[in-house]
Amino acid sequence: MLILGIETSCDETAAAVVRDGAEILSNVVVSQIDIFAEYGGVIPEVAARSHLEAILPVIDKALADARCTWDDIDAIAVTHAPGLLGSLLIGTLTARTLAILYDKPLYAVHHLKSHVYANWLTSGDQNSPQFPLLALVVSGGHTQILYMRGHNQFEIIGTTHDDAVGECFDKVAKILGLPYPGGPSIAEVAKTGDADRYPLPHPKVEGLDFSFSGLKTAVLRAVQKEVGVPISYPSYKLKDLLTPGQVADFAASFQKTAVEILCEKLEMALEQHPETKSIVVAGGVSANSELKKIFMLHLGQRAFFPAPSLSGDNGAMVAAACYYEIMSGVKPTDPYKLNIYPRVSVES
Ligand code: KG4
Ligand code: ZN
Repeated sequence: MLILGIETSCDETAAAVVRDGAEILSNVVVSQIDIFAEYGGVIPEVAARSHLEAILPVIDKALADARCTWDDIDAIAVTHAPGLLGSLLIGTLTARTLAILYDKPLYAVHHLKSHVYANWLTSGDQNSPQFPLLALVVSGGHTQILYMRGHNQFEIIGTTHDDAVGECFDKVAKILGLPYPGGPSIAEVAKTGDADRYPLPHPKVEGLDFSFSGLKTAVLRAVQKEVGVPISYPSYKLKDLLTPGQVADFAASFQKTAVEILCEKLEMALEQHPETKSIVVAGGVSANSELKKIFMLHLGQRAFFPAPSLSGDNGAMVAAACYYEIMSGVKPTDPYKLNIYPRVSVES
């Protein structure tokens, strides 16, 4: 079964053709990072307009790279939730139109499910994650631990009370004067930093839930103390007072703490679910090599990470998630009625 996956939930315009939820025939991603690096973050209206310009060429290229015509495509899958409203609209309206035009079944896919299923793309049939499993979703918008008894069964057992971990990387990067997106910038600078120089607190959140806004504030206060300014000092000016060495040490100390927090909660989840066979890590922050190193050390062969090229937003993971939805009995959606849900949970 060949599925065309379309993804436009944030600032990547992406389309891919995937065979049977595993084999990537093409995977085209046009990133808007260059545009938003100038602003230091995503501007929703600009993102939607960029999607509009890119979406049809991206889909054409995905078909051409896969050496496919529309006749070869068995289904269209598109992200309909959650994400930026204007961005989701461009992807879904395009997918609806194409489904009607070429008479293809249309499937609406939740973005977090897609991130989780990126792990089936890379592992293939031989060594896929086994159920029951725990999925740690770490993206710019979400930090959740999901329990999966089987394909397409998602139970949220832990979630963040405030910021997502990716968002925290982005905000800390801003304080340190590092370029957008903050996650990769922090990871890069942290390589030369001393992770033990600035001890940061672990938030006290009950159970398997997370809180990352306190960690961001802790970094802010530690920077203010280090450079000797009061807490009323404008945070955007702090970067001018930091030396490159201090920036690297703050980046490394923050990254270490964020990874420790994620690891602690996952180990707690494993204690509660000793029957767990695999752990899959999903979302943009799964590209973080320190996270991967620590998880591999603690969890060994049970841990799955998507290939770095599939950790961020892409169309291949949408097609993979759609394949397993179809295998679980999910029916196509009406292309005349498909709606978007910018904030809906993965459980719904
Ligand atoms: O999954 P994603 O591409 O988009 C959302 O669905 O949100 O995740 C984007 C997030 C951003 O916050 C970005 O800073 C973070 O993933 N990120 C990283 C790394 N690469 C991307 N965070 C830490 N280390 C990285 N190497
Ligand atoms: Zn994402």
